[in-house]
Amino acid sequence: MSSEQAQTEAVAFTVRERVAWVRFNRPEKRNCMSPTLNRQMMQVLDDLEYRADVGVLVLSGEGTAWSSGMDLNEYFRETEAQGLAAVRRSQREAYGWWRRLRWYQKPTIAMVNGWCFGGAYGPLFACDLAFAAEEAQFGLSEINWGILPGGGASKVARELLTFRRAMYHALTGESIDGRTAAEWGMVNEALPREKLEERVTAVARTLLKKNPVALKATKDAIRRVGEMTYDNAEDYLVRAQEAANFFDNEGRKEGIHQFIDEKSFKPGLGAYDHSRQRSVKV
Ligand code: COA
Repeated sequence: MSSEQAQTEAVAFTVRERVAWVRFNRPEKRNCMSPTLNRQMMQVLDDLEYRADVGVLVLSGEGTAWSSGMDLNEYFRETEAQGLAAVRRSQREAYGWWRRLRWYQKPTIAMVNGWCFGGAYGPLFACDLAFAAEEAQFGLSEINWGILPGGGASKVARELLTFRRAMYHALTGESIDGRTAAEWGMVNEALPREKLEERVTAVARTLLKKNPVALKATKDAIRRVGEMTYDNAEDYLVRAQEAANFFDNEGRKEGIHQFIDEKSFKPGLGAYDHSRQRSVKV
């Protein structure tokens, strides 16, 4: 297999009804993240981000894994053998696409179909929403092979879990299933595997009905305000809405119009019809 083919095959994607279904595609290696996969994923995210026919991105895995984390052979051993410059380059590539995904233009959903370990917590947290199969297994397995949960994984645990749970999870390396992950707040919901895609499709469709500029402003706001004081958040949200108005100054007016004048929808019960509004600059 040529390296070009290998690159193309490490990540697969399909665009269907305005949803980009992106998949880790190394099922025989439980979708662990090699430098090749990381480069390929960045390319795929780049290609999809501003496509007019993509409104939501779903990240899932082929086979039995979502992702078994970093590739212990290609990401760790082989790059370490090449020296510090190679290690730093591999880290930049991995962290780079996770960061890109955290601030992605479109809403993102992790559809966790199976194993999710270690480094996979980076993209898990990067996705705005997460739905898991009840049978999926989540673990900070780093301690089991002798390192700390790096690549942001410790931070993800502290962001998503209580202190005691994060500490237990990281120190013991014990896995939890999808149901426990939902109970702990690591994912939004856990469902039987056969219902997972149906539920994620329904959530994606809900998001597709919303104003896209408001979605981007909202997802960034929810991430940003976590580290702000109340006053700073209040100010940031004023500025963020005003910045959003630059891209779409008509949406909220149209929403108010459809509710107050037309009485064609109720904001408490659903989204206004943004397909009827004039230009949106994104
Ligand atoms: N890095 C490198 N190779 C990996 C890998 C990883 N993170 N995870 C799986 N693989 C490889 C295995 O070495 C094996 O390769 P081989 O067929 O050439 O022998 C192949 O993928 C299948 O893995 P296997 O362990 O046989 O699958 P399984 O379904 O029995 O178990 C896991 C699945 C996820 C429990 C197990 O593969 C595992 O523990 N992986 C490592 C998880 C981890 O610690 N990740 C954290 C990294 S930061």
